[in-house]
Amino acid sequence: MSDDTITTSIAENIGTLSINRPKALNALNSATLEKLSSRFADLETNDDVHVIVITGAGDRAFVAGGDIADLASRGGLEHYLEFAELIHEVFRQIEVCKKPTISAVNGWALGGGVELILATDIRVAVEDAALGLPEITLGLFPGAGGSQRLLRQISPCQAKELMFTGDRISAREALRIGLVNKVVSREELMPEVMKTAQKIASHSPLVLQLLKRNLTHGQDMPLAAALAHEQAMIGLVLDTADAHEGCSAFLEKRPAEFRGK
Ligand code: HXC
Repeated sequence: MSDDTITTSIAENIGTLSINRPKALNALNSATLEKLSSRFADLETNDDVHVIVITGAGDRAFVAGGDIADLASRGGLEHYLEFAELIHEVFRQIEVCKKPTISAVNGWALGGGVELILATDIRVAVEDAALGLPEITLGLFPGAGGSQRLLRQISPCQAKELMFTGDRISAREALRIGLVNKVVSREELMPEVMKTAQKIASHSPLVLQLLKRNLTHGQDMPLAAALAHEQAMIGLVLDTADAHEGCSAFLEKRPAEFRGK
């Protein structure tokens, strides 16, 4: 499955989606966002896929942001709102995806590139990647969900400094402030991402989906409602064949064989 700007592949229950506009450092224009949405939906609805990895083509950029040429070519509020609606919809689609997602940050992640990783669950970056929200230097602000997601994911004072200054930070600094999970060498990037993805994919896909739903929706609720939601969800999980299998396997001292039921 491939086309010009988005390529996908599936192996060992892991779907990999690559943003493929290396000449524009994988910047996201509307056509690419539309393809990203449809290829991502293909992976999300494919039962063979338990975990989805997102990366950028080439060795320079993950995503250098929203496509500035696309933005500059627009005129009129209606057309700007259209772009904002599209990028919001696609990033929200990724954020609420029922399967775990991992960003393999293989180079520049700027503007919309950081906003994209903020919509994924786990992020691994190469040590020479640089990340940042330079929108303010363009007279914009991180408006693809990034201002609100960043504020909720890392310390608010760190989030505000990144957004107000537009500074780029190293992958190590991104690790220090909790924006990425791990920093590895370029050679280690995909092996490390696949190792994590395989570990996740070895667990019950059904329980992973219920856990992800519990986390995605629970984090937007007041604590009492989130706990009630979690209690209902764990009730469902306890009744699955996979929970019975996992507990039996432990007691019988054998590896569990999960079937997603
Ligand atoms: C369109 C882009 C681009 C972008 C790079 N390119 N980033 N095109 N949109 N976001 C293009 C360049 O124009 C150039 O095209 C080619 O990719 C290579 O880029 P260079 O600048 O020549 O490379 P280099 O000197 O190595 O610099 C790399 C860079 C720089 C530091 C990443 O390209 C850069 O600063 N890019 C912009 C980053 C940014 O501001 N992102 C935020 C965008 S706004 P040509 O044709 O000249 O070879 C955003 C908001 C989204 O994300 C949300 C709105 C709702």
